[in-house]
Amino acid sequence: MKLNGQRRWAAAGVVVATAVATFGVAMSAPAGAAPGCRVDYKANSWGGGGFGASVKITNLGDAVSGGWTLKFTFPGSQRVAQGWNATWSQSGADVTATSLSWNGNLGTGASIDLGFNGSNAGANDANPSAFTLNGTLCTGDTVPTTTTTTTTTTTTSNGPGPGPGRVDNPYVGAKQYVNPDWAAKAAAEPGGSRIANQPTGVWMDRIAAINGTVDSRGLVGHLDEAVRQAAGSPLVIQVVIYNLPGRDCSALASNGELKPTEIDKYKTDYIDPIAAIFARPEYANLRIVTTVEIDSLPNLITNVSPRPTAVPACDVMKANGNYVTGVGYALAKLGAVPNVYNYLDIGHHGWIGWDDNFGPTAELLYQAANASGSTKANVHGFIANTANYGALRELYFKIEDSVGGTSVRQSKWVDWNRYVDELSYAQAFRQRAVLAGFDANVGMLIDTSRNGWGGSARPTGPGPTTGVDAYVNGGRIDRRIHLGNWCNQSGAGLGERPKAAPEPGIDAYVWMKPPGESDGASEEIPNNEGKGADKMCDPAYTGNVRNGNNMSGALPKAPLSGKWFSAQFQELMRNAYPAL
Ligand code: BGC
Repeated sequence: MKLNGQRRWAAAGVVVATAVATFGVAMSAPAGAAPGCRVDYKANSWGGGGFGASVKITNLGDAVSGGWTLKFTFPGSQRVAQGWNATWSQSGADVTATSLSWNGNLGTGASIDLGFNGSNAGANDANPSAFTLNGTLCTGDTVPTTTTTTTTTTTTSNGPGPGPGRVDNPYVGAKQYVNPDWAAKAAAEPGGSRIANQPTGVWMDRIAAINGTVDSRGLVGHLDEAVRQAAGSPLVIQVVIYNLPGRDCSALASNGELKPTEIDKYKTDYIDPIAAIFARPEYANLRIVTTVEIDSLPNLITNVSPRPTAVPACDVMKANGNYVTGVGYALAKLGAVPNVYNYLDIGHHGWIGWDDNFGPTAELLYQAANASGSTKANVHGFIANTANYGALRELYFKIEDSVGGTSVRQSKWVDWNRYVDELSYAQAFRQRAVLAGFDANVGMLIDTSRNGWGGSARPTGPGPTTGVDAYVNGGRIDRRIHLGNWCNQSGAGLGERPKAAPEPGIDAYVWMKPPGESDGASEEIPNNEGKGADKMCDPAYTGNVRNGNNMSGALPKAPLSGKWFSAQFQELMRNAYPAL
Protein backbone atom coordinates (compact mmCIF):
# COMPACT_ATOMS: atom_id res chain seq x y z
CA MET A 1 0.00 0.00 0.00
CA LYS A 2 1.30 3.45 -0.80
CA LEU A 3 -0.04 6.60 0.74
CA ASN A 4 0.30 9.47 -1.61
CA GLY A 5 -0.77 12.81 -0.10
CA GLN A 6 0.15 15.55 -2.44
CA ARG A 7 -0.42 19.27 -2.38
CA ARG A 8 -1.50 20.72 -5.70
CA TRP A 9 -1.53 24.35 -6.69
CA ALA A 10 -4.19 25.56 -9.07
CA ALA A 11 -3.38 28.45 -11.39
CA ALA A 12 -6.06 30.71 -9.96
CA GLY A 13 -4.33 30.73 -6.61
CA VAL A 14 -6.67 28.16 -5.17
CA VAL A 15 -5.28 25.11 -3.47
CA VAL A 16 -6.97 21.87 -4.24
CA ALA A 17 -6.11 19.55 -1.43
CA THR A 18 -6.80 15.86 -1.52
CA ALA A 19 -5.24 12.94 0.22
CA VAL A 20 -5.32 9.94 -2.01
CA ALA A 21 -4.74 6.50 -0.63
CA THR A 22 -3.84 4.20 -3.46
CA PHE A 23 -3.81 0.46 -3.11
CA GLY A 24 -1.91 -0.97 -6.02
CA VAL A 25 -0.43 -4.26 -7.05
CA ALA A 26 2.34 -3.91 -9.57
CA MET A 27 3.17 -6.97 -11.60
CA SER A 28 5.96 -7.84 -14.03
CA ALA A 29 7.92 -4.67 -13.42
CA PRO A 30 9.84 -3.44 -10.40
CA ALA A 31 7.84 -1.16 -8.11
CA GLY A 32 10.13 1.71 -8.90
CA ALA A 33 9.74 1.61 -12.68
CA ALA A 34 10.18 5.01 -14.35
CA PRO A 35 9.63 4.64 -18.07
CA GLY A 36 9.73 8.34 -18.89
CA CYS A 37 11.11 11.40 -17.18
CA ARG A 38 12.38 14.93 -17.61
CA VAL A 39 15.08 16.72 -15.64
CA ASP A 40 15.41 20.50 -15.58
CA TYR A 41 18.85 21.42 -14.33
CA LYS A 42 19.84 25.01 -13.64
CA ALA A 43 23.16 26.15 -12.18
CA ASN A 44 24.01 29.65 -11.00
CA SER A 45 27.56 30.68 -10.33
CA TRP A 46 28.31 32.88 -7.32
CA GLY A 47 31.80 33.65 -8.51
CA GLY A 48 34.88 32.38 -6.73
CA GLY A 49 34.19 28.79 -7.79
CA GLY A 50 30.91 28.36 -5.92
CA PHE A 51 27.58 27.58 -7.53
CA GLY A 52 24.09 26.45 -6.67
CA ALA A 53 22.08 24.03 -8.78
CA SER A 54 18.38 23.35 -8.86
CA VAL A 55 17.27 20.00 -10.24
CA LYS A 56 13.63 19.40 -11.03
CA ILE A 57 12.60 15.82 -11.80
CA THR A 58 9.28 15.23 -13.53
CA ASN A 59 7.99 11.70 -13.76
CA LEU A 60 6.36 11.21 -17.16
CA GLY A 61 5.82 7.50 -16.75
CA ASP A 62 4.02 5.18 -14.36
CA ALA A 63 3.89 6.15 -10.73
CA VAL A 64 7.12 5.47 -8.89
CA SER A 65 6.77 4.02 -5.44
CA GLY A 66 9.24 2.91 -2.84
CA GLY A 67 12.08 5.18 -3.88
CA TRP A 68 13.96 6.60 -6.82
CA THR A 69 17.54 7.18 -7.83
CA LEU A 70 18.73 9.97 -10.09
CA LYS A 71 22.16 9.69 -11.71
CA PHE A 72 24.21 12.05 -13.82
CA THR A 73 27.84 12.78 -14.62
CA PHE A 74 29.57 16.14 -14.38
CA PRO A 75 31.39 17.03 -17.59
CA GLY A 76 34.02 19.01 -15.67
CA SER A 77 35.53 19.28 -12.23
CA GLN A 78 32.36 20.14 -10.28
CA ARG A 79 31.84 18.77 -6.77
CA VAL A 80 28.62 18.50 -4.81
CA ALA A 81 29.16 20.15 -1.42
CA GLN A 82 25.76 20.12 0.25
CA GLY A 83 22.40 19.05 -1.17
CA TRP A 84 18.76 18.98 -0.20
CA ASN A 85 15.65 16.85 -0.68
CA ALA A 86 17.76 13.76 -1.55
CA THR A 87 20.79 11.89 -0.29
CA TRP A 88 23.63 13.09 -2.49
CA SER A 89 26.85 11.24 -3.18
CA GLN A 90 29.60 11.57 -5.74
CA SER A 91 32.22 9.19 -7.02
CA GLY A 92 34.65 10.74 -9.48
CA ALA A 93 32.41 12.74 -11.77
CA ASP A 94 29.39 10.48 -11.21
CA VAL A 95 26.65 11.88 -8.99
CA THR A 96 23.84 9.93 -7.36
CA ALA A 97 20.80 11.40 -5.63
CA THR A 98 18.46 8.99 -3.88
CA SER A 99 15.05 9.74 -2.43
CA LEU A 100 14.47 10.30 1.27
CA SER A 101 11.93 8.46 3.42
CA TRP A 102 9.24 11.06 2.73
CA ASN A 103 9.66 11.67 -0.99
CA GLY A 104 10.12 8.20 -2.47
CA ASN A 105 6.76 8.19 -4.26
CA LEU A 106 6.46 10.13 -7.51
CA GLY A 107 3.07 9.94 -9.16
CA THR A 108 2.62 10.17 -12.91
CA GLY A 109 3.14 13.79 -13.90
CA ALA A 110 4.49 14.69 -10.45
CA SER A 111 7.63 16.74 -9.99
CA ILE A 112 10.10 17.09 -7.21
CA ASP A 113 12.65 19.87 -6.67
CA LEU A 114 16.10 18.95 -5.47
CA GLY A 115 19.25 20.93 -5.40
CA PHE A 116 22.75 21.29 -4.14
CA ASN A 117 25.50 23.79 -3.59
CA GLY A 118 28.73 22.91 -5.29
CA SER A 119 32.22 24.01 -6.10
CA ASN A 120 33.92 24.19 -9.42
CA ALA A 121 37.63 24.44 -10.07
CA GLY A 122 37.28 25.02 -13.81
CA ALA A 123 35.90 28.38 -14.91
CA ASN A 124 33.32 27.37 -17.49
CA ASP A 125 32.43 23.77 -16.89
CA ALA A 126 29.27 22.81 -18.74
CA ASN A 127 26.20 21.39 -17.06
CA PRO A 128 25.56 17.66 -17.08
CA SER A 129 23.39 16.68 -20.02
CA ALA A 130 22.27 13.09 -19.45
CA PHE A 131 20.17 12.05 -16.46
CA THR A 132 18.73 8.69 -15.56
CA LEU A 133 15.87 8.05 -13.15
CA ASN A 134 15.77 4.48 -11.84
CA GLY A 135 17.94 3.51 -14.79
CA THR A 136 15.76 5.15 -17.46
CA LEU A 137 17.34 7.91 -19.53
CA CYS A 138 15.27 11.07 -19.04
CA THR A 139 14.54 12.23 -22.55
CA GLY A 140 11.51 14.30 -21.67
CA ASP A 141 9.31 11.78 -23.46
CA THR A 142 6.85 9.24 -22.21
CA VAL A 143 8.04 5.77 -23.00
CA PRO A 144 5.13 3.38 -23.51
CA THR A 145 5.22 0.45 -21.19
CA THR A 146 3.57 -2.87 -21.68
CA THR A 147 5.14 -4.68 -18.81
CA THR A 148 3.26 -3.21 -15.87
CA THR A 149 -0.25 -4.09 -14.87
CA THR A 150 -1.61 -2.21 -11.93
CA THR A 151 -4.92 -2.63 -10.19
CA THR A 152 -5.87 0.41 -8.21
CA THR A 153 -8.57 1.51 -5.83
CA THR A 154 -8.58 5.09 -4.69
CA THR A 155 -10.15 6.74 -1.68
CA THR A 156 -10.09 10.44 -1.00
CA SER A 157 -10.16 12.07 2.40
CA ASN A 158 -10.69 15.57 3.66
CA GLY A 159 -7.16 16.73 3.00
CA PRO A 160 -3.72 15.85 4.17
CA GLY A 161 -3.48 18.27 7.08
CA PRO A 162 -2.86 16.66 10.44
CA GLY A 163 -6.03 15.78 12.33
CA PRO A 164 -9.25 14.34 11.05
CA GLY A 165 -11.32 17.45 10.43
CA ARG A 166 -8.62 19.74 9.18
CA VAL A 167 -8.30 20.97 5.64
CA ASP A 168 -4.89 21.32 4.02
CA ASN A 169 -4.96 25.11 3.80
CA PRO A 170 -7.41 26.68 6.25
CA TYR A 171 -7.39 30.00 4.37
CA VAL A 172 -8.74 28.62 1.13
CA GLY A 173 -12.44 29.13 0.75
CA ALA A 174 -12.73 30.89 4.10
CA LYS A 175 -13.59 34.38 5.29
CA GLN A 176 -11.25 35.95 7.80
CA TYR A 177 -11.98 37.53 11.14
CA VAL A 178 -11.76 41.31 11.34
CA ASN A 179 -10.87 42.32 14.91
CA PRO A 180 -13.37 45.09 15.72
CA ASP A 181 -11.10 46.59 18.38
CA TRP A 182 -8.27 47.09 15.88
CA ALA A 183 -10.65 48.09 13.10
CA ALA A 184 -12.10 50.88 15.27
CA LYS A 185 -8.64 52.37 15.88
CA ALA A 186 -7.71 52.09 12.21
CA ALA A 187 -10.99 53.63 11.07
CA ALA A 188 -10.54 56.55 13.49
CA GLU A 189 -7.34 57.58 11.66
CA PRO A 190 -7.65 59.90 8.66
CA GLY A 191 -7.72 57.58 5.62
CA GLY A 192 -7.78 54.51 7.87
CA SER A 193 -11.14 53.28 6.64
CA ARG A 194 -9.33 52.10 3.48
CA ILE A 195 -7.84 49.22 5.44
CA ALA A 196 -9.97 48.94 8.58
CA ASN A 197 -11.75 45.91 7.15
CA GLN A 198 -8.57 43.82 6.89
CA PRO A 199 -8.09 40.73 9.07
CA THR A 200 -5.31 41.07 11.68
CA GLY A 201 -3.92 38.83 14.41
CA VAL A 202 -5.48 38.77 17.87
CA TRP A 203 -2.62 38.74 20.37
CA MET A 204 -2.97 36.86 23.64
CA ASP A 205 0.06 38.70 25.01
CA ARG A 206 -0.57 38.14 28.74
CA ILE A 207 -2.86 36.15 30.98
CA ALA A 208 -5.18 39.14 31.39
CA ALA A 209 -5.75 39.26 27.61
CA ILE A 210 -7.73 36.01 27.87
CA ASN A 211 -10.45 37.77 29.85
CA GLY A 212 -9.96 41.11 28.15
CA THR A 213 -8.15 44.36 28.93
CA VAL A 214 -8.87 48.07 28.53
CA ASP A 215 -7.54 47.81 24.97
CA SER A 216 -9.30 44.72 23.77
CA ARG A 217 -12.14 42.30 24.37
CA GLY A 218 -11.26 38.85 25.75
CA LEU A 219 -10.88 35.60 23.85
CA VAL A 220 -14.50 34.54 24.25
CA GLY A 221 -15.59 37.97 23.00
CA HIS A 222 -13.42 37.55 19.89
CA LEU A 223 -14.61 34.01 19.20
CA ASP A 224 -18.27 34.95 19.67
CA GLU A 225 -17.81 37.82 17.26
CA ALA A 226 -16.00 35.46 14.86
CA VAL A 227 -19.01 33.11 14.88
CA ARG A 228 -21.22 36.10 14.10
CA GLN A 229 -18.96 37.24 11.23
CA ALA A 230 -18.79 33.69 9.88
CA ALA A 231 -22.57 33.60 9.50
CA GLY A 232 -22.39 29.90 8.71
CA SER A 233 -19.41 30.04 6.31
CA PRO A 234 -15.89 28.79 7.03
CA LEU A 235 -13.93 31.55 8.78
CA VAL A 236 -10.30 31.81 9.91
CA ILE A 237 -9.55 33.62 13.15
CA GLN A 238 -5.85 34.22 13.85
CA VAL A 239 -4.72 34.08 17.47
CA VAL A 240 -1.13 34.79 18.50
CA ILE A 241 0.12 32.72 21.44
CA TYR A 242 2.74 34.93 23.07
CA ASN A 243 3.49 34.63 26.77
CA LEU A 244 6.38 32.20 27.33
CA PRO A 245 8.34 32.38 30.56
CA GLY A 246 11.30 34.72 30.06
CA ARG A 247 9.70 36.04 26.86
CA ASP A 248 11.67 37.98 24.24
CA CYS A 249 15.03 37.08 25.77
CA SER A 250 17.17 39.03 23.29
CA ALA A 251 15.26 42.32 23.54
CA LEU A 252 13.54 44.32 26.23
CA ALA A 253 10.60 45.84 24.37
CA SER A 254 8.35 42.78 24.69
CA ASN A 255 9.64 41.16 27.85
CA GLY A 256 6.62 39.52 29.39
CA GLU A 257 4.97 38.95 32.72
CA LEU A 258 6.30 35.42 33.39
CA LYS A 259 9.73 34.91 34.93
CA PRO A 260 12.12 32.42 33.24
CA THR A 261 11.14 29.65 35.66
CA GLU A 262 7.36 30.15 35.60
CA ILE A 263 6.60 27.30 33.21
CA ASP A 264 3.88 25.83 35.42
CA LYS A 265 2.02 29.11 35.49
CA TYR A 266 2.33 29.30 31.69
CA LYS A 267 0.68 25.90 31.43
CA THR A 268 -2.10 26.25 33.97
CA ASP A 269 -2.97 29.95 33.84
CA TYR A 270 -2.34 30.63 30.17
CA ILE A 271 -2.35 27.66 27.77
CA ASP A 272 -4.93 25.50 29.58
CA PRO A 273 -7.63 28.23 29.69
CA ILE A 274 -7.02 29.16 26.05
CA ALA A 275 -7.27 25.50 24.99
CA ALA A 276 -10.45 25.06 27.02
CA ILE A 277 -12.07 28.07 25.34
CA PHE A 278 -11.02 26.94 21.86
CA ALA A 279 -12.56 23.52 22.56
CA ARG A 280 -16.07 24.88 23.29
CA PRO A 281 -18.62 23.29 20.97
CA GLU A 282 -19.93 26.67 19.82
CA TYR A 283 -16.55 27.36 18.17
CA ALA A 284 -16.18 23.97 16.47
CA ASN A 285 -16.84 25.36 12.99
CA LEU A 286 -14.27 28.15 13.19
CA ARG A 287 -10.83 27.56 11.72
CA ILE A 288 -8.64 28.77 14.56
CA VAL A 289 -5.13 29.58 13.31
CA THR A 290 -2.60 30.01 16.09
CA THR A 291 0.87 31.39 15.64
CA VAL A 292 2.94 29.96 18.40
CA GLU A 293 5.43 31.96 20.41
CA ILE A 294 6.98 34.53 18.13
CA ASP A 295 10.79 34.88 18.29
CA SER A 296 11.31 32.29 21.01
CA LEU A 297 13.04 29.28 19.44
CA PRO A 298 15.04 31.32 16.88
CA ASN A 299 16.56 33.19 19.84
CA LEU A 300 17.90 29.90 21.17
CA ILE A 301 19.84 29.44 17.95
CA THR A 302 21.38 32.84 17.37
CA ASN A 303 21.48 34.69 20.68
CA VAL A 304 23.20 32.16 22.90
CA SER A 305 26.80 31.49 23.92
CA PRO A 306 29.37 31.11 22.51
CA ARG A 307 28.14 33.33 19.69
CA PRO A 308 29.18 36.98 19.77
CA THR A 309 25.47 37.84 19.61
CA ALA A 310 24.75 35.97 22.87
CA VAL A 311 22.44 37.59 25.42
CA PRO A 312 22.53 36.27 29.02
CA ALA A 313 18.72 35.96 29.22
CA CYS A 314 18.72 33.68 26.16
CA ASP A 315 21.44 31.51 27.69
CA VAL A 316 19.15 31.14 30.71
CA MET A 317 16.21 30.08 28.55
CA LYS A 318 18.31 27.62 26.62
CA ALA A 319 19.72 26.10 29.80
CA ASN A 320 16.38 25.74 31.60
CA GLY A 321 14.61 24.33 28.54
CA ASN A 322 11.41 26.27 29.19
CA TYR A 323 10.99 27.64 25.67
CA VAL A 324 11.08 24.13 24.23
CA THR A 325 8.90 22.73 27.03
CA GLY A 326 6.42 25.59 26.69
CA VAL A 327 6.15 25.44 22.90
CA GLY A 328 5.68 21.66 23.03
CA TYR A 329 2.98 22.06 25.67
CA ALA A 330 1.17 24.76 23.72
CA LEU A 331 1.26 22.65 20.55
CA ALA A 332 0.01 19.55 22.33
CA LYS A 333 -2.85 21.28 24.16
CA LEU A 334 -4.00 23.52 21.33
CA GLY A 335 -3.41 20.83 18.71
CA ALA A 336 -5.75 18.50 20.59
CA VAL A 337 -8.60 20.78 19.52
CA PRO A 338 -9.55 19.46 16.06
CA ASN A 339 -10.27 22.85 14.48
CA VAL A 340 -7.03 24.51 15.64
CA TYR A 341 -4.22 24.97 13.10
CA ASN A 342 -0.86 25.61 14.78
CA TYR A 343 1.83 27.56 12.91
CA LEU A 344 5.26 27.81 14.53
CA ASP A 345 7.28 30.99 14.28
CA ILE A 346 10.50 30.88 12.21
CA GLY A 347 11.75 34.46 12.56
CA HIS A 348 12.58 35.94 9.16
CA HIS A 349 15.27 35.73 6.47
CA GLY A 350 17.36 38.50 8.03
CA TRP A 351 17.67 36.36 11.14
CA ILE A 352 17.56 32.67 10.25
CA GLY A 353 18.59 32.85 6.57
CA TRP A 354 22.28 32.10 7.21
CA ASP A 355 23.50 28.52 6.81
CA ASP A 356 24.50 28.15 10.43
CA ASN A 357 21.01 29.21 11.61
CA PHE A 358 18.72 27.70 9.00
CA GLY A 359 19.07 23.94 9.50
CA PRO A 360 19.56 24.17 13.27
CA THR A 361 16.31 26.17 13.58
CA ALA A 362 14.36 23.53 11.66
CA GLU A 363 15.87 20.81 13.88
CA LEU A 364 15.09 22.71 17.09
CA LEU A 365 11.51 23.32 15.97
CA TYR A 366 11.17 19.62 15.33
CA GLN A 367 12.49 18.90 18.81
CA ALA A 368 9.94 21.32 20.32
CA ALA A 369 7.16 19.83 18.20
CA ASN A 370 7.88 16.52 19.89
CA ALA A 371 8.32 17.88 23.42
CA SER A 372 5.86 17.84 26.35
CA GLY A 373 3.72 15.09 24.82
CA SER A 374 3.32 16.83 21.46
CA THR A 375 3.96 15.21 18.10
CA LYS A 376 4.70 16.76 14.73
CA ALA A 377 1.05 16.21 13.80
CA ASN A 378 0.27 19.26 15.95
CA VAL A 379 2.20 21.51 13.57
CA HIS A 380 0.23 22.63 10.54
CA GLY A 381 2.92 24.97 9.28
CA PHE A 382 5.19 27.91 10.00
CA ILE A 383 5.05 31.68 9.93
CA ALA A 384 7.82 33.97 8.69
CA ASN A 385 8.40 37.69 9.23
CA THR A 386 5.95 38.15 12.11
CA ALA A 387 6.02 41.82 13.11
CA ASN A 388 9.14 42.25 10.98
CA TYR A 389 9.92 44.31 7.91
CA GLY A 390 11.68 41.97 5.45
CA ALA A 391 10.62 42.56 1.85
CA LEU A 392 8.39 39.89 0.39
CA ARG A 393 10.32 39.91 -2.88
CA GLU A 394 13.50 41.69 -3.86
CA LEU A 395 12.70 42.49 -7.47
CA TYR A 396 16.00 43.91 -8.66
CA PHE A 397 18.60 41.47 -7.40
CA LYS A 398 18.72 37.73 -6.82
CA ILE A 399 20.94 35.66 -4.60
CA GLU A 400 22.55 34.13 -7.70
CA ASP A 401 23.62 37.53 -9.12
CA SER A 402 27.18 38.70 -9.13
CA VAL A 403 28.83 41.96 -10.11
CA GLY A 404 32.28 41.88 -11.67
CA GLY A 405 32.70 38.32 -10.44
CA THR A 406 31.65 39.12 -6.85
CA SER A 407 28.50 37.44 -5.58
CA VAL A 408 25.76 39.57 -4.03
CA ARG A 409 26.20 37.28 -1.05
CA GLN A 410 29.39 39.19 -0.39
CA SER A 411 27.66 42.58 -0.36
CA LYS A 412 27.43 44.37 2.98
CA TRP A 413 23.62 44.15 2.95
CA VAL A 414 23.34 40.42 2.21
CA ASP A 415 26.48 39.52 4.18
CA TRP A 416 26.56 35.83 3.13
CA ASN A 417 22.88 35.26 3.83
CA ARG A 418 21.41 32.54 1.62
CA TYR A 419 18.15 34.47 0.99
CA VAL A 420 17.32 38.00 -0.04
CA ASP A 421 13.61 38.06 0.74
CA GLU A 422 10.82 36.48 2.73
CA LEU A 423 9.16 34.55 -0.08
CA SER A 424 12.29 32.64 -1.05
CA TYR A 425 13.13 32.13 2.62
CA ALA A 426 9.71 30.79 3.55
CA GLN A 427 9.57 28.43 0.58
CA ALA A 428 13.04 27.06 1.32
CA PHE A 429 12.34 26.73 5.01
CA ARG A 430 9.29 24.64 4.23
CA GLN A 431 11.47 22.15 2.42
CA ARG A 432 14.09 22.17 5.16
CA ALA A 433 11.41 21.57 7.79
CA VAL A 434 10.17 18.53 5.89
CA LEU A 435 13.74 17.30 5.79
CA ALA A 436 13.88 17.70 9.58
CA GLY A 437 10.89 15.37 9.85
CA PHE A 438 7.80 17.59 9.60
CA ASP A 439 4.80 16.49 7.57
CA ALA A 440 5.26 16.93 3.80
CA ASN A 441 2.11 19.06 3.64
CA VAL A 442 3.09 21.80 6.08
CA GLY A 443 2.26 25.26 4.75
CA MET A 444 3.74 28.68 5.30
CA LEU A 445 2.35 32.04 6.36
CA ILE A 446 4.17 35.29 5.72
CA ASP A 447 3.36 38.41 7.73
CA THR A 448 3.12 41.15 5.11
CA SER A 449 1.59 43.76 7.42
CA ARG A 450 4.52 46.16 7.25
CA ASN A 451 6.94 45.03 4.53
CA GLY A 452 5.58 47.01 1.58
CA TRP A 453 8.39 49.59 1.22
CA GLY A 454 6.51 51.80 -1.24
CA GLY A 455 6.70 55.55 -1.35
CA SER A 456 9.26 57.79 -3.02
CA ALA A 457 12.33 55.88 -1.78
CA ARG A 458 11.29 52.67 -3.56
CA PRO A 459 13.71 51.81 -6.37
CA THR A 460 12.28 51.32 -9.83
CA GLY A 461 15.11 49.22 -11.24
CA PRO A 462 18.42 47.54 -10.45
CA GLY A 463 21.27 49.46 -8.87
CA PRO A 464 24.41 50.39 -10.83
CA THR A 465 26.86 47.60 -11.62
CA THR A 466 29.84 49.66 -10.52
CA GLY A 467 30.28 47.38 -7.52
CA VAL A 468 28.35 44.79 -5.61
CA ASP A 469 27.31 47.14 -2.78
CA ALA A 470 26.15 49.82 -5.20
CA TYR A 471 24.16 47.22 -7.08
CA VAL A 472 22.44 45.79 -4.02
CA ASN A 473 21.88 49.08 -2.19
CA GLY A 474 20.63 50.86 -5.28
CA GLY A 475 18.15 48.14 -6.15
CA ARG A 476 16.89 46.85 -2.87
CA ILE A 477 13.22 47.19 -1.96
CA ASP A 478 13.91 46.82 1.77
CA ARG A 479 15.12 50.33 2.69
CA ARG A 480 16.20 49.64 6.27
CA ILE A 481 19.59 50.87 7.42
CA HIS A 482 20.45 47.30 8.38
CA LEU A 483 18.64 43.99 8.04
CA GLY A 484 18.83 43.49 11.81
CA ASN A 485 16.71 46.57 12.60
CA TRP A 486 13.28 45.59 13.89
CA CYS A 487 11.64 48.39 15.87
CA ASN A 488 9.12 50.84 14.35
CA GLN A 489 11.06 51.18 11.12
CA SER A 490 11.07 54.54 9.48
CA GLY A 491 10.07 54.43 5.79
CA ALA A 492 8.15 51.14 6.04
CA GLY A 493 4.74 50.68 4.44
CA LEU A 494 1.84 48.26 4.51
CA GLY A 495 2.64 45.19 2.42
CA GLU A 496 0.54 42.77 0.39
CA ARG A 497 -3.02 42.64 1.64
CA PRO A 498 -3.96 39.35 3.32
CA LYS A 499 -4.45 36.70 0.67
CA ALA A 500 -5.00 32.94 0.58
CA ALA A 501 -2.63 30.57 -1.27
CA PRO A 502 -0.69 33.32 -3.08
CA GLU A 503 2.35 31.21 -4.08
CA PRO A 504 3.41 27.56 -4.03
CA GLY A 505 3.98 26.40 -0.47
CA ILE A 506 2.46 29.55 1.03
CA ASP A 507 -0.89 29.09 2.78
CA ALA A 508 -1.45 32.84 3.08
CA TYR A 509 -0.08 36.33 3.32
CA VAL A 510 -1.37 37.56 6.66
CA TRP A 511 -1.34 40.70 8.77
CA MET A 512 -0.36 39.04 12.03
CA LYS A 513 1.08 42.23 13.51
CA PRO A 514 -1.77 44.73 13.56
CA PRO A 515 -0.45 47.79 11.68
CA GLY A 516 -0.37 50.82 13.97
CA GLU A 517 0.61 48.88 17.08
CA SER A 518 4.06 49.85 18.32
CA ASP A 519 7.04 47.47 18.44
CA GLY A 520 8.41 49.11 21.55
CA ALA A 521 8.80 52.39 23.39
CA SER A 522 11.47 54.89 22.33
CA GLU A 523 12.23 55.53 25.99
CA GLU A 524 11.40 54.00 29.36
CA ILE A 525 7.66 54.05 30.11
CA PRO A 526 6.48 52.58 33.44
CA ASN A 527 4.00 49.71 32.95
CA ASN A 528 2.72 46.57 34.62
CA GLU A 529 3.18 44.22 31.64
CA GLY A 530 6.88 43.52 32.24
CA LYS A 531 7.89 45.54 29.17
CA GLY A 532 11.25 47.29 29.14
CA ALA A 533 12.76 50.02 26.97
CA ASP A 534 14.89 48.57 24.21
CA LYS A 535 17.55 50.81 22.73
CA MET A 536 16.66 49.48 19.28
CA CYS A 537 13.46 51.55 19.55
CA ASP A 538 15.41 54.74 20.25
CA PRO A 539 16.13 56.65 17.01
CA ALA A 540 19.34 58.06 18.48
CA TYR A 541 20.79 54.61 19.27
CA THR A 542 23.92 53.70 17.32
CA GLY A 543 23.44 49.95 17.48
CA ASN A 544 25.07 46.76 18.71
CA VAL A 545 26.55 43.59 17.31
CA ARG A 546 23.12 42.26 16.25
CA ASN A 547 22.56 45.14 13.83
CA GLY A 548 26.17 45.61 12.78
CA ASN A 549 26.46 48.71 15.00
CA ASN A 550 24.18 50.77 12.80
CA MET A 551 21.56 53.37 13.68
CA SER A 552 18.28 51.79 14.80
CA GLY A 553 16.13 53.37 12.09
CA ALA A 554 13.26 53.61 14.60
CA LEU A 555 10.57 56.28 14.52
CA PRO A 556 10.66 58.74 17.43
CA LYS A 557 8.14 59.08 20.27
CA ALA A 558 6.87 55.52 20.13
CA PRO A 559 4.59 54.19 22.90
CA LEU A 560 4.95 50.78 24.60
CA SER A 561 4.87 47.72 22.37
CA GLY A 562 1.32 46.83 21.41
CA LYS A 563 -0.02 50.36 22.06
CA TRP A 564 -1.49 52.46 19.27
CA PHE A 565 1.09 54.56 17.43
CA SER A 566 -0.76 56.93 15.20
CA ALA A 567 2.30 58.43 13.48
CA GLN A 568 3.49 54.96 12.49
CA PHE A 569 0.06 54.02 11.17
CA GLN A 570 0.06 57.12 8.98
CA GLU A 571 3.54 56.35 7.69
CA LEU A 572 2.58 52.74 6.92
CA MET A 573 -0.39 53.93 4.87
CA ARG A 574 1.71 56.53 3.05
CA ASN A 575 4.34 53.97 2.07
CA ALA A 576 1.96 51.12 1.34
CA TYR A 577 2.91 48.81 -1.52
CA PRO A 578 0.74 47.95 -3.30
CA ALA A 579 -0.40 51.54 -2.75
CA LEU A 580 -3.79 52.08 -1.13
C1 BGC B 1 3.72 43.32 22.03
C2 BGC B 1 2.35 42.80 22.36
C3 BGC B 1 1.37 43.19 21.28
C4 BGC B 1 1.88 42.75 19.93
C5 BGC B 1 0.97 43.16 18.80
C6 BGC B 1 4.14 42.88 20.65
O1 BGC B 1 5.34 43.47 20.31
O2 BGC B 1 4.64 42.90 22.99
O3 BGC B 1 1.94 43.34 23.59
O4 BGC B 1 0.12 42.62 21.53
O5 BGC B 1 3.16 43.27 19.70
O6 BGC B 1 0.97 44.51 18.58
